[in-house]
Amino acid sequence: MSTTLDLLPTPLDYAALPKADLVERIRRRKEERNAVILGHNYQRVEIQEVSDYLGDSLGLSQEAAATDADVIVFCGVHFMAETAKVLSPTKTVLMPDLRAGCPMADFVTGDALRRLKDQHPGAAVVAYVNSTAEVKALSDICCTSSNAVRVVESIPRDQTILFVPDRNLGAYVAEKTGRDNIISWDGYCYVHDDLILDELADVRARHPDAPFVVHPEARPELLEAADFVTSTAGMVDLAAEHDALIIGTERGLVDRLTRKYPEKKLLPLSGAAVCGNMKMNSLAKLAWCLDHGEYEVRLDEEVRAGAERALRRMLDLSGGWSAPTSEEAALEEAGVRPRGCGCS
Ligand code: 13P
Ligand code: SF4
Repeated sequence: MSTTLDLLPTPLDYAALPKADLVERIRRRKEERNAVILGHNYQRVEIQEVSDYLGDSLGLSQEAAATDADVIVFCGVHFMAETAKVLSPTKTVLMPDLRAGCPMADFVTGDALRRLKDQHPGAAVVAYVNSTAEVKALSDICCTSSNAVRVVESIPRDQTILFVPDRNLGAYVAEKTGRDNIISWDGYCYVHDDLILDELADVRARHPDAPFVVHPEARPELLEAADFVTSTAGMVDLAAEHDALIIGTERGLVDRLTRKYPEKKLLPLSGAAVCGNMKMNSLAKLAWCLDHGEYEVRLDEEVRAGAERALRRMLDLSGGWSAPTSEEAALEEAGVRPRGCGCS
């Protein structure tokens, strides 16, 4: 194994190195930069193994807000790294591959949301975190799959809600809260929206005793057939409690759980449920990213501050962030106290 930390020019050069060499490089460079690696539950196993923190969107945003590292390396998709930058503006946020975006987030643009808001003056905008910082900045509050119901319940019942961009999560929240005044955007996640009832019938026929858990980004008919509907972190908890489970989400999480509990029957609803965007990150690209300090996520300050407001409201509701006192808020307004999570 090489002991030098000479920079190599491209991620391809890193891909030619042995895995142990990459892992060692990552470890040493991480220490040198005082960096933390945050990984989403859908990452490749090789990334999961070197992540300091693995979790769902809510947990990752809480971690990004709380870390005292100087550099956050985000292994997930673009909106997640943006969220880290929004919450920790003085830190350097890096991504191994800038092209790792979330197609669902791209369903709604700032201009399109402005037009919808013009058509519904007085409506509250709830943005699923799978959205750009620009869209978050135009929203009243964010939500994740684990707190969407709670977030919507915090909005007065008679106020119309514009829910962007996931129609399936929007429908789920409308059903759970019994509200008929939620206008959902027509976006969706191609990985979860492709899951179908036929696949469930097939796995259930083979494993009739296994309960079925599904992510709320899946279609309503699958949610109706499920024993549990929850986020990826909720699925991790369920896997700890059950000996058998049919899991309706992206394969990366099922792979992780199968490695963790080899004695359990943890079955993917579909072997084809793979998010190619999440899988764009690799160990080689991660080593390249830490060595070169690339790619850095940057945000326009006005957009960042707007997105922070919407995210902060959500975190406040989720117990992950204490809202500033009125005194602190006044200092922020006067520009005396830096805006942010308090860790910057
Ligand atoms: P959670 O991990 O928050 O459940 O989200 C899943 C997802 O699709 C993220 O892109
Ligand atoms: Fe986006 Fe779906 Fe991939 Fe999550 S799994 S990043 S929602 S495309």
